[in-house]
Amino acid sequence: SAGRPLAGTKVLITAGPTREAIDPVRYLSNHSSGKMGYALAGAARRLGAEVTIVSGPVVLNAPAGCRRIAVQSALDMHEAVMAEVTNADIFIGCAAVADYRPAQQVEQKIKKSRDEMQLTLIKNPDILSDVAALPNRPFVVGFAAETQDLEHYARDKLNRKRLDMIAANDVSKQNIGFNSEQNALSVFWPSGETKLPESDKHSLALQLLDVIAEQYKEKQDA
Ligand code: PMT
Repeated sequence: SAGRPLAGTKVLITAGPTREAIDPVRYLSNHSSGKMGYALAGAARRLGAEVTIVSGPVVLNAPAGCRRIAVQSALDMHEAVMAEVTNADIFIGCAAVADYRPAQQVEQKIKKSRDEMQLTLIKNPDILSDVAALPNRPFVVGFAAETQDLEHYARDKLNRKRLDMIAANDVSKQNIGFNSEQNALSVFWPSGETKLPESDKHSLALQLLDVIAEQYKEKQDA
């Protein structure tokens, strides 16, 4: 129906940061609060979808009616997503997945000794690309967190990762993006684009889900 355009569809969403362990007490991470991803989950639910969130560590409660799978690292998130995605009609990658993890995971707390220490990092798998490469892939929506040339880098990610859609946000501003109540999105898909101006994340999430539902349906009907 018009009010529930996603009724009967399964939506899988990643949200929050990942934590990459350095030793048993320390980690590398970022400022993602999970607010954008959780708002998307709530919005997808409101539009009628069955929603699963694969979430890094955040302080938020899962929106009513949404299933949550809690993970820590990018490798954990990758594994959980790959296990869940076979059921999904739509995948939205909103998590701020760490691009790199410490090459060595040491078993004991690192002692303070030398004045300088070096940490070697290795690349994490790209969850979004791996989902997009599946033979029976869902409709794939990525995010792009950029500090410059938003459209250029977003379009590049859309093409390179072979996505159906990408939502780009400018994370160089303090009042929007990471760990704020507000955001603004520039949304691109192969044959179009739309701008969702600055607003609170809940209202933006509903607007983005409307755009996703429309393009998802168009692709289904094609
Ligand atoms: O959580 P909030 O505080 O509400 O903040 C929201 C947000 C700013 C984190 C969110 O709106 C956002 O931009 N999320 C994507 C952050 C990010 O990692 O962007 P990226 O441009 O580095 O990555 C591009 C895409 O690839 C993203 O969809 C990301 O989920 C995905 N990715 C990245 C690396 C990786 N190893 N695997 C991935 O799937």
